[in-house]
Amino acid sequence: MTAAGLKSTPGGALWGTVRAPGDKSISHRSMILGALASGTTTVEGLLEGADVLATAQAMRSFGARVEQEGVGRWRVEGHGGFSEPSDVVDCGNAGTGVRLIMGAAAGFPLCATFTGDSSLRGRPMGRVLDPLARMGATWLGRDKGRLPLTLKGGNLRGLSYKLPMASAQVKSAVLLAGLHAEGGVEVIEPEATRDHTERMLRAFGAEVIVEDRAHGDHVVRHIRLPAGQKLTGTHVAVPGDPSSAAFPLVAGLIVPGSEVTVEGVMLNELRTGLFTTLQEMGADLTISNVRESSGEQVGDITARYSPDMKGVVVPPERAPAMIDEYPILAIAAAFATGETIMRGVGEMRVKESDRIALTAAGLEACGVDVEEEPEGFIVRGTGQAPRGGALVETHGDHRIAMSHLILGLAAQAPVSVDEPGMIATSFPGFAEMMRGLGGAIAEA
Ligand code: S3P
Repeated sequence: MTAAGLKSTPGGALWGTVRAPGDKSISHRSMILGALASGTTTVEGLLEGADVLATAQAMRSFGARVEQEGVGRWRVEGHGGFSEPSDVVDCGNAGTGVRLIMGAAAGFPLCATFTGDSSLRGRPMGRVLDPLARMGATWLGRDKGRLPLTLKGGNLRGLSYKLPMASAQVKSAVLLAGLHAEGGVEVIEPEATRDHTERMLRAFGAEVIVEDRAHGDHVVRHIRLPAGQKLTGTHVAVPGDPSSAAFPLVAGLIVPGSEVTVEGVMLNELRTGLFTTLQEMGADLTISNVRESSGEQVGDITARYSPDMKGVVVPPERAPAMIDEYPILAIAAAFATGETIMRGVGEMRVKESDRIALTAAGLEACGVDVEEEPEGFIVRGTGQAPRGGALVETHGDHRIAMSHLILGLAAQAPVSVDEPGMIATSFPGFAEMMRGLGGAIAEA
């Protein structure tokens, strides 16, 4: 971790081809499903960020053998279930890690205490604990189910659960608990969210039934996991993370004269809302070499400098497909002409930080006109490079840090961020990658 701040300085064009780091969502799931399964799971392209390493460590404490065999190459030996950890399970900064692990652990007759860093200890866990309690798990924790908390699992009953918010983490926790619930589980999704758990459960041999039912002009997704599923270890090739690829790509769009290609980016349409939105804004973003890898489409994405981007209204129903990408979209919007209206994104307030508040504050500090709403925000771009020249507070949020560093590469004056060490949770090597493309990002 870097103790000092990081600073990005406007300069020449960005140029080159890079590979996106492994997808964070799929990396977490490969460790957890590998540990739940019987036999060997081999993983290539694992994101070796702090979040996923915390999940790997947690899987060891639940009894799996987890070993690194090379760069991005890991091996998980599962014994078909979790055993009771002998100490507190620390999930670091990772909401995905702790929520999915609690779901998986609830299926077994064990008692486990979970904690995390100060950000994770402030995040709502009730959204996962409520359905797990309905299935028969019990827990004791801080106010509103905040970590640290202790969960006792085993003897679960089946559940049909309608998600109260669009959350793949909650869906996944219920599905993973459902692996060991009598009668199986059903999750009803008013808005489809990333489906990596469903796809990976199938790859490990489980039966998952997905049905889209029309309710007027709205489609509701029903995901059913019948009882009695057995998971068998398999091979997982982790595709590149579209949420990380977003940073060099937006940099390519806003730094004059640039052309940046990111190879091997996952194109699952439940993750690519940002790219659709940027194209609607008039960004020169092209996708080539589309292929399939481990059940996911991947492709290479090229971003060319796009000085004529226009503000758009982002459809609120697109939010689940780009929920982590609004901070970097807001940076692109600051360089576009006109208003970009982002609504229906209240979930941003309960991420690693309150991302609506911090994105608005960071942009304002850099001279951008932003209006904050309870469940959204509006960025008003002038079509000119914003002033920059600010120190942006990140509250330890990796995506807030990276977004504002990208802004600084194209602003009129440098931008610094505090606490850049947290970037390593999702994108170790971010600053080095940007430097390789010609971006001036250095310790402040
Ligand atoms: C994730 C789901 C999303 C996302 C997070 C990863 C996942 O969270 O923000 O970074 O891997 O399932 P929610 O489920 O809270 O929307």
